[in-house]
Amino acid sequence: MIIEPVVKGVVARSAHPYGCQQAIRNQIDYVRAAEPIVGGPKKVLVIGASSGFGLASRIALAFGGSNADTIGVSFERGPSEKGVGTAGWYNNIFFREEAEKQDLIGKNFVGDAFSVSMRQQVIDYIKAEFGGKLDLVVYSLATGVRPDPETGEMWRSSIKTIGESVTGPTINIETDTMEPMTIDTATEEEIEATKKVMGGEDWESWIDILSEADVLADGCKTVAYSYIGPEATYPIYHKGTLGRAKIHLHDTGDLLNDKLARIGGEAYVSVCKALVTKASVFIPAFSPYILALFKVMQDKGVHEGCIEQMQRLFSQRLYGPQQHVPVDEQRLIRIDDWELDDDVQRQVSQLMAQITPENFTAVGDYQRYKTDFMQLNGFWLDGVDYQERVNLEALKALTP
Ligand code: NAD
Ligand code: NA
Repeated sequence: MIIEPVVKGVVARSAHPYGCQQAIRNQIDYVRAAEPIVGGPKKVLVIGASSGFGLASRIALAFGGSNADTIGVSFERGPSEKGVGTAGWYNNIFFREEAEKQDLIGKNFVGDAFSVSMRQQVIDYIKAEFGGKLDLVVYSLATGVRPDPETGEMWRSSIKTIGESVTGPTINIETDTMEPMTIDTATEEEIEATKKVMGGEDWESWIDILSEADVLADGCKTVAYSYIGPEATYPIYHKGTLGRAKIHLHDTGDLLNDKLARIGGEAYVSVCKALVTKASVFIPAFSPYILALFKVMQDKGVHEGCIEQMQRLFSQRLYGPQQHVPVDEQRLIRIDDWELDDDVQRQVSQLMAQITPENFTAVGDYQRYKTDFMQLNGFWLDGVDYQERVNLEALKALTP
């Protein structure tokens, strides 16, 4: 069969396996040539490893100088009668293949990271086959739902404002149009549920259980990812439900840092740049900002994708020559520093003021935005023959 891109709204309904493989290889090539991670970890667990920042972390840590063995946990779907499967499914497979070529472990666990059984499987594997200890745990989940461990009922996150509703233009990738969308205000329950799903509670639980199982090495670090952004986007992000959840995540970072002190370990939250990922395209009214940001950062030559961000995080912040991890006054790692640069933000506000549904493809960098989205799903990559027939049976034979 020939695999065509299918996009519904901002959701990809197909993925190209060999395009995903090419995207993995491109990221590996980038980190191999980049400033290397010196003094980095050798045994790493990445929770949320199959796409976005988690996948980029895994690639940077394996191929960007640290030569880390990695365990990746993710929630993805393989090929079936319903379709070819998700991009993350293939990212896992082709990452592992590339890692094994370098004699590195690239073990994949596919299933629910929130479940007790997933924690147990990972711990058993660490003890039996991974050398017994981890020296870094990356927490990079992005999801809309989390089961309550006590009742099994689902908490659902909402992307809403707190205080006043906001109306703003939002991109529909399927139709290449911008449509006004209103973000309503959240109820107390919705704020709490979003905190449960995207806050730090599950991160803390993972670290507690790994610590009780005695699989954290002395000096073990852990890092989770956050977003803050400029004041212009505060109503939709930082001061909305997602931002509330992130504040909980930041507080969890401090709590875990205290807990890990016992073994000489450290916990950090890294605030990252706004990027196109499977998760971020869902945030209403956010797209004009990303379009303007990409355009300005591209023109200034400081644009980064997930892989550039993660290689810089590990080589220049979390590891590297300096004695201490550089953090801001709230103890956050700021790898969003280039995004929040004064001159970048001044130009972004000017550009954002000009963006309309009629002109956004020309004024902002919609080409980059859409290309990033298509490439997340294995499409629009150079060097891939999209006319070549893909054998579904051969794909079914590939295992994570
Ligand atoms: P993503 O959607 O690309 O990746 C999410 C990962 O979580 C995937 O590997 C997915 O399989 C996994 N996952 C989701 N639910 C799961 C479950 N129940 N069990 C196991 N695995 C599950 O998302 P992303 O954009 O890379 O986000 C990762 C983190 O980075 C989030 O905390 C996000 O808030 C943060 N962040 C994102 C941006 C951005 O612009 N995209 C910016 C700053 C920070
Ligand atoms: Na991720």
